[in-house]
Amino acid sequence: MAITVNEQKRIFFLDGKNTTYAFMINEYNYAEHLYYGKSIGHDDITYIRGDGGGSMLAQTPAYKAQKGVFPSYDSYHQFPAEISFYGTGDYREPALEISHEDGSRIVELLYDGYDIAEEKQKPEGMPAMRGGETLILHLKDTASHFGCDLYYTVYDDVDVIARRIVYKNEGESDVRLNRAYSFTFHVPDMEYEVMTLHGAWGRERRIESIPVHHGVVSVDSKRMSSSATLNPFMALVKKGTCEEYGNVYGFSLVYSSSFVLKAEGINNGSIQITGGINDFDFSWKLQKGEKLETPEVVIAYSDEGLGGMSRIYHDAYREYLINKRFVKAKRPLVINNWEGTYFDFDNQKLKEIAEAAKGTEIDTFVLDDGWFGKRDDDFSGLGDWFVNTDKLEGGLTEVIEYVNGLGMKFGLWFEPEMVNEDSELYRAHPDYAIGVPGRVRCQSRNQYMLDLTRKEVRDYIVENVNGVLHKHHISYVKWDYNRNVTDAWSCGLTKDRQAEFSHRYALGLYDLCERIVEANPEVFFEGCSSGGGRFDPAILYYFPQVWTSDNTDAEDRTLIQYGTSMVYPLSTMSCHVSVVPNHQTGRITRMDTRADIAHLGATGYELDTTAFSDEDRECVRRQIEEYHEIEELVLDGDLYRTENPMESNYFGFMLVSKDKKEAFLTAYRRLGHANGEVKRLKVCGLDKDIYYYVKELDSTFLGATLMNVGLLPVFDKGDFKTVKYHFMSLDI
Ligand code: DGJ
Repeated sequence: MAITVNEQKRIFFLDGKNTTYAFMINEYNYAEHLYYGKSIGHDDITYIRGDGGGSMLAQTPAYKAQKGVFPSYDSYHQFPAEISFYGTGDYREPALEISHEDGSRIVELLYDGYDIAEEKQKPEGMPAMRGGETLILHLKDTASHFGCDLYYTVYDDVDVIARRIVYKNEGESDVRLNRAYSFTFHVPDMEYEVMTLHGAWGRERRIESIPVHHGVVSVDSKRMSSSATLNPFMALVKKGTCEEYGNVYGFSLVYSSSFVLKAEGINNGSIQITGGINDFDFSWKLQKGEKLETPEVVIAYSDEGLGGMSRIYHDAYREYLINKRFVKAKRPLVINNWEGTYFDFDNQKLKEIAEAAKGTEIDTFVLDDGWFGKRDDDFSGLGDWFVNTDKLEGGLTEVIEYVNGLGMKFGLWFEPEMVNEDSELYRAHPDYAIGVPGRVRCQSRNQYMLDLTRKEVRDYIVENVNGVLHKHHISYVKWDYNRNVTDAWSCGLTKDRQAEFSHRYALGLYDLCERIVEANPEVFFEGCSSGGGRFDPAILYYFPQVWTSDNTDAEDRTLIQYGTSMVYPLSTMSCHVSVVPNHQTGRITRMDTRADIAHLGATGYELDTTAFSDEDRECVRRQIEEYHEIEELVLDGDLYRTENPMESNYFGFMLVSKDKKEAFLTAYRRLGHANGEVKRLKVCGLDKDIYYYVKELDSTFLGATLMNVGLLPVFDKGDFKTVKYHFMSLDI
């Protein structure tokens, strides 16, 4: 039993692998947070409740309701909240903003019982982590009969708490939710910094640290997509924390539309964290008997620094979020034609690319954008999911059969959520595109977005994408998404529900994913959004890997993959080797450096193989052979970030098997300098008592020696060079 309730003291304990989460129902029936951190006993810890920071305190109405008089001192503002609400004296960021039919905006959400489920049920129409014992705490506003259920799921083998809130209108009249966040959480002191992952196209997921202050630090997206600009993630990092030690709390939203996460320094010296669906341009009408499910937030705690937090998220998402069938299975090793041809190909060219990959151990040919409709550039064709026979004379079948005949599998690109004005779909159904009648709507990459809030639009997409997948022998799909929503409005929504658009778009997307992914259980799906523009846990629920960035330059990739690894396992990062000069940065790096960095993820190639010399082909064959030697570590190993390229001239990732019998270290030096520093490489995560044979040094060392002494790398002269070390326990 991971969930224990002290009925007398009304304290709830949720025990994870090495952690305990505790809250109480206090004397006013308010859900008051007590603790989240390393495992503790189920003792009465109510002695830690303090007050302070009071300022014009509003004495709680609940006390008056129970005792007939107002309390002299207590105010909701002073209790660390499991859900903060507005209107009765709490001036912190509320998780909920509601408007009742009479125009009043007050709720008092107080205890109304609890249930415990052995296994969590999947939220309706939304992705979430699977399994786990779940506490459902019922809260109610007696005056209006509006209520909510706070869900807490706990796992005995990983240190996360998965939380979400279901809002319920059990009153007689309609209510409007102007904000409906997923959680409220507290940390008892302010010695923390907020860490976020920000970026842009081609420069995804850079790390930024912002001091917590009195007031609110927030990250959000208003794009109706999780976005490259800010990832739906925030961590509270105790001052002085590093990769190996220090207190970290992570907050990762399982959501793909506009979100917000906020950390607020409170005047009593604590921090309140809250967030979920972005309340900007949001409102949701709940009629009598209706409920609103909010997205799950996965809260992680580690006292082993940022590295510890990342390993917790990697384990949690590999075990409980990503499709079990694929998560640890060997990945397709692809040749993708995009950077090799862009739109300029025909069936002959495709066959030549596939043919030229023969002998390299590449096992999947992926045909990217341009195979359908009248698509010769990015001005036309999106939405027309039938083959472009001007380019592919024999249709898809001929190319697929040819590729299969070479012993390779076949993958295909789609961008299901989009339409071009110059397309048969748009000519037949202009109303399928998002936009407000009478206004000129924005184009982005010359395309519009389809209104996924409407069932008939989703039906069209499902029928057409599944039509192609069912007709052909396709084992891999790259699902692209190259623009964000503008002009949000739907003819399928009544006037008073238009501000539901953002969340309804997410629900439409998840419905689409379920109907396409589930109808094709054998097909491996890769997510993509102009690279990493929608890299979030909800997408990973459907697609086990995501094209990490359109930027394939090895130097830039060290930064992108470093930041991405804060939350997401290496197995989720699709990483390709491409040509030099790199198409995005113009930089020249050697082929082995590009491969060494791309091998720290689900690797592949993206170039024109017909330009290969025999030597190149042999080089790729060797690289893939080397990749297969470490693939299990990439898919399931523990990651130790040994060198931080955002702060130094070096990048280092060390992968260690769960039983610690095998490990692999890749280190990279950005710039070579004359008479430079003598670099000592860190070695982490080994078993101190095991002897390891280090292949590249042809020597054996005790784990303790390697981890305490480190290694002295010998980088080749020049810039952008890598070294690698493979460690094998002697008793393997
Ligand atoms: C953006 C993707 O990130 C690229 O890999 C490629 O698929 C193009 N779209 C195709 O339009």
